[in-house]
Amino acid sequence: VKQEFGDSALRANIILIGGCGVWSAVENHVPAILEAKRNGLPVRVAVICDPRDPRAACAQRDDMRAFEDLLNTDKPAWVTPAGQSERELTQTLDELHREHDFKLAIIACGPVDHYVYLKWSAQHGIHVLCDKPIICVADSASSRSAAEQMSAGFEEILTLVRRNQSKGPYFIAIPLRRRANDAYLTVAKSISEVAAMGQGMTFATLTTNAGLYRFPEEYRYGDAHGYQRGIGSLAFSSYHYIDVLSWFLTLAPGGASYLRITNPFVRRLGEYLAVPESRFLGKLIDENAAEAEPVLPDQVLASEVDFVFHIELLDEQRRCCGLLVYSCISTGYSHRTVPISAADRLGSQPFREKGRMSQFVLEISQGSLQHIAVVRNDVASGPGEIRVQRRRNPLIASEHFRNESFENAHEGSSITPMHITQAVIALASGTEVDRAVLGRISFLEQQALTHSIFAAFYTLIAANYEARLLSAPRQAEEVVVSLSGRLVRS
Ligand SMILES: NC(=O)c1ccc[n+]([C@@H]2O[C@H](COP(=O)([O-])OP(=O)(O)OC[C@H]3O[C@@H](n4cnc5c(N)ncnc54)[C@H](O)[C@@H]3O)[C@@H](O)[C@H]2O)c1
Repeated sequence: VKQEFGDSALRANIILIGGCGVWSAVENHVPAILEAKRNGLPVRVAVICDPRDPRAACAQRDDMRAFEDLLNTDKPAWVTPAGQSERELTQTLDELHREHDFKLAIIACGPVDHYVYLKWSAQHGIHVLCDKPIICVADSASSRSAAEQMSAGFEEILTLVRRNQSKGPYFIAIPLRRRANDAYLTVAKSISEVAAMGQGMTFATLTTNAGLYRFPEEYRYGDAHGYQRGIGSLAFSSYHYIDVLSWFLTLAPGGASYLRITNPFVRRLGEYLAVPESRFLGKLIDENAAEAEPVLPDQVLASEVDFVFHIELLDEQRRCCGLLVYSCISTGYSHRTVPISAADRLGSQPFREKGRMSQFVLEISQGSLQHIAVVRNDVASGPGEIRVQRRRNPLIASEHFRNESFENAHEGSSITPMHITQAVIALASGTEVDRAVLGRISFLEQQALTHSIFAAFYTLIAANYEARLLSAPRQAEEVVVSLSGRLVRS
């Protein structure tokens, strides 16, 4: 898109929330904004809202070149939410909105802080790009009432979206890179083809390892990927995987109308740190740090590290017609070789896992007609390969077996999160967007099922915790949601 916008009044102002974080400043949003500006889009980051001072943040890392460029060209005002109540913060944002008339809010802070910004933006009709997980509530690993607020919060924001849409174009977009990725879209196509023959998805198992080796002390650090707000590893990348499962199921629901969700296994941080297995790698790196026993608050120790969920597929008569299994092991193989960093101890820069992995195996069955296996086994920071193997019954296909490899699967995809951020900026500034990109953007309305599964997972993790506190026998807790994401029973 190349246009000349001489009139600065036409410029679309952006408020960048959590703008100093790694994902925003280094990896995605800021480089995408700069690229959009180079392509002639009339946008400016008018405000950065982050407890970190953007200039100081630049000085603390050596990969902030793009962020520094943005600070020099757009000269955004900096506002810090630190020390402000929710009311004071929204008053500050109101004043800034009066001054800058924001067209887009990019919300890239930790998930527990998304809700207040989402609500404020939607109330003012400001378009939003909000990172995953969309809404998360502090202490949801140990408090069922906290976990249950996630669904209510989602419904509230959805209602605001619909109200805005009744007056004109309005969107909240979520950058879900897998929904836009060539490898996953290939799988989606294969699933849809067999679904068109009438065969739904009957079984899927997704096992992921995040390789988040942390020294005990490090569970005190981290914003978006921290434990100190009483939520753990489910709030990191799992939202993407839950979304993949719900996306594929929606393409091939077969007879399924309801999902019965249970949580057969959860291991909390306190349980993990209590066993010698949690120290082995640490001792190879730094014996003293591995053996240190920091004082961690109860809500941190209660946060989930490893867990398994079962999602039974039920038809209208509540008969079982399939099963999805999601297992997340955050404490498996790690590529980490480095000790605790001084900058992490100071809290001066966002915490990022060292040696984080991106490993998963996804297996999908559509009855006896099709089986698909998707595998990735990479260090998270490197280029990754996704392998896809597909088998089809000879009665329905001449090609019985297909084996594909997507090298550099994320960066090499024809549409990446950078394209999505740029397209969202174009949409917010009223500029035409390439249809191919538009079709790969996820909007809030399409996230009802994923979000309700995510919220159900936390409800069950918390219910399990509360039952243990009361020394109640482990109950077969379950949450039932409809395929449209409506909560049926909790
Ligand atoms: N879509 C993707 O593929 C993808 C990839 C990475 C991260 N993410 C998401 O992006 C978000 C940020 O991740 P990150 O890795 O950059 O985290 P980060 O911890 O590096 O950055 C978070 C930033 O938010 C700031 N912050 C803290 N509290 C705040 C508040 N109340 N208001 C405003 N800002 C606040 C922090 O100071 C920090 O600069 C998370 O929600 C994460 O899940 C998405």
